[in-house]
Amino acid sequence: MADDHTLGELIDMQLSQNGPMSIATYMSLALTHPRSGYYTGKDPLGRGGDFVTAPEISQMFGELIGFFIVNLWQQMSEPKSFTLLELGPGRGTLMQDALRVAARAEGFLDACHLQLFETNPALKAQQAERLGQYNPYWASEIDSVAEDPIFVVANEFFDALPIRQFVKGTDGWHERQVGLRDGKRTFGLNPTPIPDTVMPEEVRSARPGEIYEVSLAAADVMQKLGTRIREQKGALLAIDYGYATTQTGETLQAVSHHAYADPLESPGEIDLSAHVDFGALARVATDLGLTVEKLSTQRDFLGALGIVERASALARANPGQMDAIGAALRRLTAPEEMGTLFKVFCAHSGDLEAVGFPS
Ligand SMILES: C[S@@+](CC[C@H](N)C(=O)[O-])C[C@H]1O[C@@H](n2cnc3c(N)ncnc32)[C@H](O)[C@@H]1O
Repeated sequence: MADDHTLGELIDMQLSQNGPMSIATYMSLALTHPRSGYYTGKDPLGRGGDFVTAPEISQMFGELIGFFIVNLWQQMSEPKSFTLLELGPGRGTLMQDALRVAARAEGFLDACHLQLFETNPALKAQQAERLGQYNPYWASEIDSVAEDPIFVVANEFFDALPIRQFVKGTDGWHERQVGLRDGKRTFGLNPTPIPDTVMPEEVRSARPGEIYEVSLAAADVMQKLGTRIREQKGALLAIDYGYATTQTGETLQAVSHHAYADPLESPGEIDLSAHVDFGALARVATDLGLTVEKLSTQRDFLGALGIVERASALARANPGQMDAIGAALRRLTAPEEMGTLFKVFCAHSGDLEAVGFPS
């Protein structure tokens, strides 16, 4: 394949040679194609980028997660060696804020082996800059973690993993695909029906036209890390937009420069994501024998960990910043902002109690 083709052209060549591809294949190419994928090229974060994430809004977000992890570590009687793994660490801001707080717990940093899982070279460079002092190790495989207790943090990571979509028909489910019509990328359906019995119980009574989304990649991450957590003890904390129980509904979305876009336009240049089926993650974790907390909201989780008190303390220490701190607090917690859209999921070994979740 010639190097001067855009990713859209490369995908179109593949479609015309091989026929339609699943949405998961299209998303994988668009997001993580080795040369031209969205998450292998530029830094998409921040006001000048395509979207702003919670840790980029305020240091309070990462700080409270730091407190959450220290609490788990203390409950385990402060193991002398453990892995702290962040999935999709972005600019490294969350972990920088978390470790600044965690460093106050004596022995924490000495025991901590920081692992980062990231595809984007531009973001890896920023992570190296912000987190270099903690000697991070970039894992190339999600399950290449050491054999000590493990704490996993993932903010807006699972939503970037590919999904497949199935549309209910009168004769079963048909996979939604990306193909070419008159030389233009378009959605279509695989003609071969898949029987209802293959689908999770929650969606079997769907009416024709309803869409079911499944992320095998997300389930795979949960399975691999959940197995480690069961065997080595620990926890996985994931914050993302999503829903508590498996259900129908289309959530695939494209965002470019803070506005919605057409998912089939400009692959590699726009962000593609889908809401996370936390019900599916919970099933995988529960089947592994982990304890899964009731899905919380970002508002309730940060509230329970003391974000209002932290905001007041910050404002007292930085009176000139009071308005900005208040605005960040609102942005992270107000129901009309990120407060209830974003959910907090935690699966952990049975010996632990997760702070910030209702008991
Ligand atoms: C939406 S950004 C969130 C960044 C960061 N967690 C934050 O909150 O600012 C998604 C992150 O996951 C990374 N990422 C996306 N897909 C990935 C994949 N398949 N494997 C590893 N990292 C991935 C991106 O490069 C980016 O760092």
